[in-house]
Amino acid sequence: MNIVIIGAKGMLGSMLASVFTDAKSVLLDREEIDITNAQSVREVLMPLQPDVIINAAAYTNVDAAEEHKDDAFLVNETGVKNLADVASMMDATLVHFSTDYVFPGDKQDGYSEADSPGPAVNVYGQSKLAGERALVESGCKFYLVRTAWLYGPNGKNFVDTMIELGKTKKNLSVVNDQFGSPTFTKDLAQFVRSLLENQEPFGIYHGVNTGSASWFEFAEMIFTIVPGMKVDVKPVSSAEFPRPAKRPQYSILKHTKGPEFRDWKDALREYLA
Ligand SMILES: NC(=O)c1ccc[n+]([C@@H]2O[C@H](COP(=O)([O-])OP(=O)(O)OC[C@H]3O[C@@H](n4cnc5c(N)ncnc54)[C@H](OP(=O)(O)O)[C@@H]3O)[C@@H](O)[C@H]2O)c1
Repeated sequence: MNIVIIGAKGMLGSMLASVFTDAKSVLLDREEIDITNAQSVREVLMPLQPDVIINAAAYTNVDAAEEHKDDAFLVNETGVKNLADVASMMDATLVHFSTDYVFPGDKQDGYSEADSPGPAVNVYGQSKLAGERALVESGCKFYLVRTAWLYGPNGKNFVDTMIELGKTKKNLSVVNDQFGSPTFTKDLAQFVRSLLENQEPFGIYHGVNTGSASWFEFAEMIFTIVPGMKVDVKPVSSAEFPRPAKRPQYSILKHTKGPEFRDWKDALREYLA
């Protein structure tokens, strides 16, 4: 299987690259391809004739997207359309990632693959939803994998931020009224590999570790696992932490199809080991 991984220097892309090392894979990032440019996408991908294109490239700065709406849509909608068009031309399978932020965040027990997304609560979510629609309408063979609250090596993430803060602070306030699905990039990358190897049906999947937590519970678990880090974590409301982009309150993703995921706490233990 010839695989191209785009966004290979990002947090998820770099993990995908390490999970597919034994496959015939080509790693691309911004230096080699600009997914917002249809010509660049055609010129780079057509000669490679991949069986599978995995797109981990995206505009991921949630707060900056509020002021840079056009940039977010260019990457997260037009970029996906460009890739889907080329995938259709080559009859390649496109694996693409989306987010819990495509949902409004008002469903307390979480969203399954069968739930219809929208309206999204912020510009980033709107741009990712537009990308989902472009992918579905393209008619290409696709796996659309929604994920959430990702952490892993090579990227800015909540776990690393907490550990850094914990080195210098004894007290931290963390939001306790937003709930989601913490997910290790390693588990997600292996999930993608299983989808491809098992030739699971094309369509929409939720790729998240099992279980859910608030950011406060997530932080508490991090400091419980890391030995010797005595940090007192205080639960606070989102109102105490205003941010440019609104966050959904309940954005738990329910994983009801495809290969199993382990519990989020077990995945976190491995990452922190
Ligand atoms: N991180 C999360 O918590 C999270 C949650 C839910 C869903 N997701 C989704 O998961 C996927 C991976 O996210 P991530 O956090 O791993 O992303 P990331 O670390 O920000 O990596 C994205 C990569 O894409 C590259 N890129 C951006 N624009 C590009 C363009 N026009 N052409 C080519 N490459 C471009 C970036 O390069 P530069 O660094 O140079 O910009 C970067 O290397 C995304 O689809 C994201 O929406 C992430």
